[in-house]
Amino acid sequence: MNFTGSNILSVEQFDLDSIQTVFQTADRMQPYARRQKRTKVLDGAILGNLFFEPSTRTRVSFGTAFNLLGGEVRETTGMESSALAKGESLYDTARVLSSYSDIIAMRHPKSGSVAEFAEGSRVPVINGGDGANEHPTQALLDLYTIKKELQHHGHDINGMHICMIGDLKFGRTVHSLSRLLAMYKNIRFTLISPKELAMPDAIIDELVRGNHQITITDQVAGLLDADIVYQTRIQQERFTTPQEADLYRGKFRLNSEIYTKHYKPNTVIMHPLPRDSRAEANELDNDLNQNPNLAIFRQADNGVLIRMALFALTLGVADLIEKYECDV
Ligand code: CP
Repeated sequence: MNFTGSNILSVEQFDLDSIQTVFQTADRMQPYARRQKRTKVLDGAILGNLFFEPSTRTRVSFGTAFNLLGGEVRETTGMESSALAKGESLYDTARVLSSYSDIIAMRHPKSGSVAEFAEGSRVPVINGGDGANEHPTQALLDLYTIKKELQHHGHDINGMHICMIGDLKFGRTVHSLSRLLAMYKNIRFTLISPKELAMPDAIIDELVRGNHQITITDQVAGLLDADIVYQTRIQQERFTTPQEADLYRGKFRLNSEIYTKHYKPNTVIMHPLPRDSRAEANELDNDLNQNPNLAIFRQADNGVLIRMALFALTLGVADLIEKYECDV
């Protein structure tokens, strides 16, 4: 993959070599993210950070990543504060905003909207989540986290057992992550959800084509050799009514007792966050907060590294990071 000048819209753009490039670049970002070193490689560059749907991690980590590389961030949050609310097209918005920025990160509630926006943009566009479709940067940071966590236990992505639980229909993070994992070898996927919220067929087909072992079930069982448990939230915002989402909330909880009963002692616990901590949902209980296998905050930390890497690569400055170092 030629990163320079490219949009990042879907995990389909990546192969194992380009994933490796992103991960190696992310590794190099560690001292800058920890403020042990400082670079001004993006001095004068502007990120247009457009979030037309709620976000904490993705929006702020895109901004933080750009700042850490020396660039500036201009934010638009919420549809109501943009001219999209007056009926302006995504194409026109893109034509205009791309002349104010060097690169744009965007989240939007409609599937395919970020790709539509990118058609009008004169600068690279990075998908920060488009409806229930994709969340490619989350998938890259999840995969990076899985690799690091498994390495810690002396294991590899190839041959692992991952269990994905919850809203696999509307959860875009599990869609993108599954597509990336499909490129690896001999993975065992246990996909646990209510039947109505099962993983879309198109993604199952990709896993089948990759010769992976797939179990689709609505029961939490047979997980004692799972290397990763990836919990998800019921995506209320994608249902027709909140009452419909209520039917599924709280069905697949993970807490200390369930973890001890169903998983081996070092199964890595992941969640893209936000976790729904209301009593009626609580898919990932606070009583696991001190469990060393809980990787959710390491995931969020890795988001900064991955997004720094993607900015450096798409803006063609990855080889110049060290050259533009300055005093801390
Ligand atoms: N994981 C994730 O996309 O979180 P935010 O919705 O807070 O950006």
